Amino acid sequence: MQVHVFDNPAQVAQAAALLVASQVLRKPDSVLGLATGSSPIPTYGELIRLYRAGVLDFSRVRTFNLDEYCRLPSDHPCSYHFFMARELFDHVNIPAENTRLPDGNAENLLWEAARYDAAIAASGGIDVQLLGIGHNAHVGFNEPGDQLVYGAHVSDLTPSTIQANRRFFDREEDVPRQAVTVGIGAIMNARCVLLLATGQDKAQAVYESIRGEMSPRVPASMLQAHANVLFLLDREAAELL
Ligand code: F6R
Repeated sequence: MQVHVFDNPAQVAQAAALLVASQVLRKPDSVLGLATGSSPIPTYGELIRLYRAGVLDFSRVRTFNLDEYCRLPSDHPCSYHFFMARELFDHVNIPAENTRLPDGNAENLLWEAARYDAAIAASGGIDVQLLGIGHNAHVGFNEPGDQLVYGAHVSDLTPSTIQANRRFFDREEDVPRQAVTVGIGAIMNARCVLLLATGQDKAQAVYESIRGEMSPRVPASMLQAHANVLFLLDREAAELL
């Protein structure tokens, strides 16, 4: 595990974008695992900048997102489909058919989860996985519990996650209670994992994930067993280390 501490969130984003960019330059048909939420937005901004500068070509890149809310229309402004279009896909030359997110509106969500894992496997696996981290140390929507789930699945979001997601929705009752998420298998099988965390509110989760014991109660702590993981942190997120 490597832990890099930067002065500010902008540097975290630059470092993450440099690592993703070098992957895409070395392997133009790279498979990227992508996250939503606030943490990766500045990184996507940097990647768009590199694309506009003519440095990066996304025409052969393939992407799989970590998760999508259940039963939220994909054109809803809070859906992760909508988020990815707005924050990245609409601004680079990635073909729409190369971008995948779980379908949270599939009639049978268990089949959708199985299909999603199969599609990731068929792609050859994820080269670089971007992750944020929840206040409760969730990654994707693998929430703390007695055990972690290996495969993609429907996750019941915890009250802390529902509260954190509340800021994007008009009313608390509108915040989805479930999401389809990749399991720990997809994350642990990624050839490289970049976990981005900024801000003091992530310091406890970061500390427990890096310095604590590996436990399903701290889902990100499983990354201690990953052979190629980089934590990219700003000073605030790293303050308890
Ligand atoms: C998003 C995801 C979540 C977020 C996490 C942190 O696709 O899977 O695990 O990465 O909730 O969210 P932010 O970055 O908004 O603090």
